[in-house]
Amino acid sequence: MSAPSSAIESTLVENRVFPPSEAAVKAARISGMAAYEALCAEAAADYEGFWARLGREHLQWTKPFTQTLDESEAPFYHWYADGELNASANCLDRHIGTAVENKTAIIFEADDGSVTRVTYKELLGRVSRFANALKALGVVKGDRVLIYMPMTIEGVVAMQACARLGAIHSVVFGGFSAKAVHERVIDVGASVIITANAQLRGGKELPLKNIIDEALAMGNCDSVRNVLVYERTKTACNMVAGRDLTFSQAMEAQSDRCEPVAVGAEHPLFILYTSGSTGKPKGVQHSTAGYLMWAKVTMEWTFDIQPSDVFWCTADIGWITGHTYVTYGPLAAGATQIIFEGIPTYPNAGRFWQMIERHKCTVFYTAPTAIRSLIKAAEADPAVHPARSDLSSLRILGSVGEPINPEAWMWYYKNVGGERCPVIDTFWQTENGGHVITPLPGATPLVPGSCTLPLPGIMAAIVDETGNDIPNGSGGMLVIKRPWPSMIRTIWGDPERFKKSYFPDEMGGKTYLAGDGAVRSADRGYFRITGRIDDVLNVSGHRMGTMEIESALVAKTDLVAEAAVVGRPDDVTGEAICAFVVLKRSRPTGEEAKQIAKELRDWVAKEIGPIAKPKDIRFGDNLPKTRSGKIMRRLLRSIAKGEAITQDTSTLENPAILDQLAETN
Ligand code: WT7
Repeated sequence: MSAPSSAIESTLVENRVFPPSEAAVKAARISGMAAYEALCAEAAADYEGFWARLGREHLQWTKPFTQTLDESEAPFYHWYADGELNASANCLDRHIGTAVENKTAIIFEADDGSVTRVTYKELLGRVSRFANALKALGVVKGDRVLIYMPMTIEGVVAMQACARLGAIHSVVFGGFSAKAVHERVIDVGASVIITANAQLRGGKELPLKNIIDEALAMGNCDSVRNVLVYERTKTACNMVAGRDLTFSQAMEAQSDRCEPVAVGAEHPLFILYTSGSTGKPKGVQHSTAGYLMWAKVTMEWTFDIQPSDVFWCTADIGWITGHTYVTYGPLAAGATQIIFEGIPTYPNAGRFWQMIERHKCTVFYTAPTAIRSLIKAAEADPAVHPARSDLSSLRILGSVGEPINPEAWMWYYKNVGGERCPVIDTFWQTENGGHVITPLPGATPLVPGSCTLPLPGIMAAIVDETGNDIPNGSGGMLVIKRPWPSMIRTIWGDPERFKKSYFPDEMGGKTYLAGDGAVRSADRGYFRITGRIDDVLNVSGHRMGTMEIESALVAKTDLVAEAAVVGRPDDVTGEAICAFVVLKRSRPTGEEAKQIAKELRDWVAKEIGPIAKPKDIRFGDNLPKTRSGKIMRRLLRSIAKGEAITQDTSTLENPAILDQLAETN
């Protein structure tokens, strides 16, 4: 943790304000700023009462809770702790016998453009059948199930089936390597793995099951009894007798009725790994009730979801956004949603816009990286410009994962939203479970580049290193001062790290530290996130730890002596990974340097996954260090940006290496 730099403190001048239209205010569930303020006031006046009301109104309990917040083990907070419920029943069974029963739950568009629809009733049948298959393999409440699946209806079915049995799922994004899967299988102690033979992306078939086999062959995976394989394509894959089963084999004899298992409110619904500031990813553990309540409430508040909406969140189920706004939120809210298997640039970069037209999408939620890459594509080729598609169905646009720059915001607002749809810039994190700072479409005047104001009940603030409030207009650290129901419960297997990472003693041990720098505007008190203040990078909205990449690089022991990784700004991906490497042999130049750089990139892809490949690799005889041996990362960040060095370099051992490190390969 370090203090925000002065660059972070500089306030961006943004004078444009976009208030919601009168019609939007009138139609919205939270109608106008007065309604927003009334909810904030309710939370301020009776914090527990406010959350108790939401818990009762939005969830169906098999045993109602009597206790709202238990702070006796702070910062391990318990919410609704004596209540019991089932998450899958709250997403599916609750709609049976209502108007939602025969409504389309999922419109699935495959990579090749073929479309499948499933109603709520059908989805319940499929989830139940798959849950019975898991049950037949001995999966019971509390078991961990690792899911490594493509974006398909089956991915959602697998997650919901776990929830139905009270089994704890841990989804690993399909872009992670065998090594990353292996690490997670062991950390989480998975008894069953659910995967597919292959995934289809951009017209290419990529094997998935192979990666699971490779991971399990790395050893120490005795916890894994079975591997279930969804046959996404007809391509055969290796099947280990007695361990591996196809989906059809597993489900063959199973009934499509399965009684949901009631669990305690605090029972872990899932564990999702994310990067922190050490080399080891953190298994973020979420609860059942608090998490699910907020997934549903934010669908209704942030997206103002209505019965006729067609919602589309483009995130993969391997990330928290896919958990909350694909698998749980839309289903709990009874919405119709689009799930897309492929990539935004196949068969052309107009795919998103064409899909919005095809499925009459009304609420569209994507990442700034995707928007920026599609801006570039549309500028290069008018045939893929959003203007070529009929986007009149849209009413709300969302953004998530990284700061959205005002230029991208304006383009999204004009070209996709037709200057009619609010751009809802939602700030939150894996650890938050759902949105925490975001505008509301029928209330908040929008300012491009700002996530505006905390949701009612979220006590967000900006403080200094000891937890004192910082006045509007100055930068500081983003914190949330009171616990809220959908927050992280612990780091799986490492409660000490949980306390240290999120509830630092210097701030009293009870304030949630987000790890981001932020500033509130002097006029409106609007929040603007200025970026991480720890060693975490955000590349295309994907979180990566610099230490993780450094560990991967130095694990190439035949070649690498030392490595330091920093981020630098990138027009499309937000941040790009830049690695400074000292080899065990002399510093390479020219062709040789290029070739070794490629070798190292491929190595990192194997160690972590292709998303962690450094964009820039620079070689030096050494790294810039202070006389006490500390790597001067600030200096490396300047070099990575291509900035002139203005910092004091007089304490450097060997100032000449700065020129070496400035050379790219
Ligand atoms: C980090 C969390 C849950 C969202 C997906 C990413 C950055 C996220 C915004 C935003 C500025 C944002 C922060 C945060 N971030 N949304 N709207 N504006 N920054 O979840 O992988 O846990 O990453 O993403 O730096 O700490 P994540």
